[in-house]
Amino acid sequence: MYVAKSILELIGKTPMVKLSNLTKDIDANVLVKLEYLNPSGSLKDRIALEMIEQAEGEGVLQPGFTIVEASTGNTGISFSFVGTLKGYRVVIYETIPGRMGEEKIKIMKNYGADVKVITPKELEHERSVAGAEIELPGRKMCLELERRNPKVWWARQFSNPHNVRAHNKTAREILTQTKGRVDAFVASIGTGGTLMGIAEVLKKELPHIKIIGIQPASSKVTMVPGKPYPKSEIKGGIISDMLEKPNLIDEIVRVSDTEAVKMTHRLRVEEGLYAGVSSGANVLIAVKEAQRLGDGKNVVTVLPDSGDRYLTEEHYVT
Ligand SMILES: Cc1ncc(COP(=O)(O)O)c(C=O)c1O
Repeated sequence: MYVAKSILELIGKTPMVKLSNLTKDIDANVLVKLEYLNPSGSLKDRIALEMIEQAEGEGVLQPGFTIVEASTGNTGISFSFVGTLKGYRVVIYETIPGRMGEEKIKIMKNYGADVKVITPKELEHERSVAGAEIELPGRKMCLELERRNPKVWWARQFSNPHNVRAHNKTAREILTQTKGRVDAFVASIGTGGTLMGIAEVLKKELPHIKIIGIQPASSKVTMVPGKPYPKSEIKGGIISDMLEKPNLIDEIVRVSDTEAVKMTHRLRVEEGLYAGVSSGANVLIAVKEAQRLGDGKNVVTVLPDSGDRYLTEEHYVT
């Protein structure tokens, strides 16, 4: 045990636990990495720290600048935490008013960020349906803000390569924790940073591994490994690169809100893991894969955020 010099030192190095009750009739193991134990409650602390420190190193983020990002919650919270602690003004565009729990907005404000809620009237296209698609209007606003003001740094979580790099480190933690014994890895896709960053390292070290991505059942655009995905300054980014990279992602599956919420509840009651709804989606697919793989195999997934983010609203939103 040691005393950290700053809370930022405690980002990452999250524990891993083997599920026991949910998998009692299965011969394979499901191992879950507790990303909700990061200081602000989600895996996005890793990318906020990595992207901010990289931008500082490159000189594109300097004292007196404002950090902007569009977020449905977790990234906004992590930037509010890391950014304000480092002395920056942080502005988060929150793009799903009415669907996102009030608690997320309150947490960002409590960390000291300015939260701009985009009202449905300001959204140019029809009400968005799932996952990362929700954030397009917010990203458009970040781009406009950055173009107008040279002292604004837009983190660009959907295309910033340091989002992926942050999760190359998560993968190295997984390799250490499992002693290199991983047969399948599963993760929900928001920006794609978690899946791509972890897949890059695991596929290199363990070529036999199966990598499975999950998208919400209600997503408008279907992700297919090996097939192009729409790309522009506010679209595509990491997801396009990830899907186009040969032999990286083996399968993408869809999970509905109902299925994800049901497994999230089971995780709490049967395993004591108080995680958010994407964790339920991840575990649902990890358990299915474990059933398929059988004897002695290890399926790894992440529990991205904490269940107390969903006290007023339970949705599978990545
Ligand atoms: C709760 C939750 N789960 C999963 C994800 C997916 O992570 P990533 O953006 O790395 O694909 C996110 C973020 O988008 C998230 O907030």
